[in-house]
Amino acid sequence: MPDLPARFATTAPDAPGRLPLIGNAFQVLLNPKRFLEAMRPKKPVLRVRVGPFEFYLVNDPALIRQINLDSDVFHRGRLFDVVDRSLAASRFHCEGAAHRSVRKKLTPTFGQKGIREFAPAITRHARAHTDRWQDGSVLDIGREMEELAIGCTLDFLFGTPVTGDELAALRHALTILPRRFALETALPAWLTALPVPANRRFAATMADLTTLLDKLIDDQRRAPEPRGALAALITGSDHDRPREDVIRADILVILLAGIGTVAGTLAWAIIELARHPAASEQLDRELGAATAQEDPDLRALPCTRRMIEETLRLHSVTFLTQRASTAVTLGEVAIPAGAELVFSPNALHRDPTLHPGAGRFDPGRLGSTREHARAGSYLPFGIGAHRCPGEHLALTETVLMLATVQSRWNLRPVPGQALPHSDRVNAQPHGFLMTAEKRR
Ligand code: HEM
Repeated sequence: MPDLPARFATTAPDAPGRLPLIGNAFQVLLNPKRFLEAMRPKKPVLRVRVGPFEFYLVNDPALIRQINLDSDVFHRGRLFDVVDRSLAASRFHCEGAAHRSVRKKLTPTFGQKGIREFAPAITRHARAHTDRWQDGSVLDIGREMEELAIGCTLDFLFGTPVTGDELAALRHALTILPRRFALETALPAWLTALPVPANRRFAATMADLTTLLDKLIDDQRRAPEPRGALAALITGSDHDRPREDVIRADILVILLAGIGTVAGTLAWAIIELARHPAASEQLDRELGAATAQEDPDLRALPCTRRMIEETLRLHSVTFLTQRASTAVTLGEVAIPAGAELVFSPNALHRDPTLHPGAGRFDPGRLGSTREHARAGSYLPFGIGAHRCPGEHLALTETVLMLATVQSRWNLRPVPGQALPHSDRVNAQPHGFLMTAEKRR
């Protein structure tokens, strides 16, 4: 939809259900996913109020592309202000030159070739992790996949498997940090700084983490042949050598962005396959041939990839934010300078006008994900300057890990459990129990 000249633009309509004072707070806080899905067909842009905070919900795929691709006007929004409180130094949270420079440095490691070289390590991690399972044991599938993703991501980052006390300390910090950041998003800064036991414990974890990361960075600096993604993060000439706190924050952004997402996608793929026996049998037929190889190739696993792509469609990030730096027209609607804009990849993916029968798990329905991405109807990895740099790694990890799990184990949900709450913002299905039966 072409933008109207500013003089013809209208004010965005209010989202339905708005109440005096609280606005749409009740609907948004009760179930953000459902609210965003319900608002999608209403209008291309809606004004949503949550108490004193107002944002523009952008529903139209073409306008979503515009707010992410026009980097002169649109910048990262409120979601990242909160994250910035803890990871302020990271170059991923900058815009412009510093951001472009860190993305460029990481390109060889995160590109197709770099990931192809890392692929055998992924399969090794998946085999080692699943070899520890006992026939008949009951597993919290979300936690299992998180442990697997932690080990693999640390290996990718540091260029060598992290083991022993260092692994235990990093695991501890990495399971606490996402919950803490979720809390910081919801609470005012002063409350999370009060000297109460929970805040003191968090400060102590962060202090230990800083010491450990500094040691790992130092090891890497001294190594005759620096390896892993960290090697790229620490490089710089004398005048632009990155500071230690910048590298630490970058490491944390990568770990936080790369672990829960991969673990959540894998766990959901396993749950969806358990609920859809025909898809599971289709996968078995592919895996029978492919996993006989020592290091199965991603290209030999197109069906496994389709399972992952469909899982990513159904279990995607709830919302992302942008901010308009100047007054602008979006379609027919006037957006004031400083306005917060929200869009929901999950709601796009579940829109039946874009994906007929959208609620159904139907691997193969997407055909070319690239074409869907171009049309703005499939955005699991975001869009624009901050689009996920870990996409190749994520797809390779999830495909190879799913192939390894599925070819060795039957995972069946423990009866009597409700499906994990996909309504929550966090897509990780923690607490869902599955029985592991070894395949003969
Ligand atoms: C299935 C797995 C994954 C999904 C669904 C996913 C999705 C996303 C999304 C939606 C964004 C935000 C884009 C935006 O702000 O516009 C993002 C950013 C990011 N992701 Fe991923 N991601 C995944 C795996 C990974 C992995 C494995 C890594 C690295 C180990 C990674 C590293 C990052 C980083 C560093 C950013 C910030 C990029 C920037 O600000 O420039 N992600 N990801």
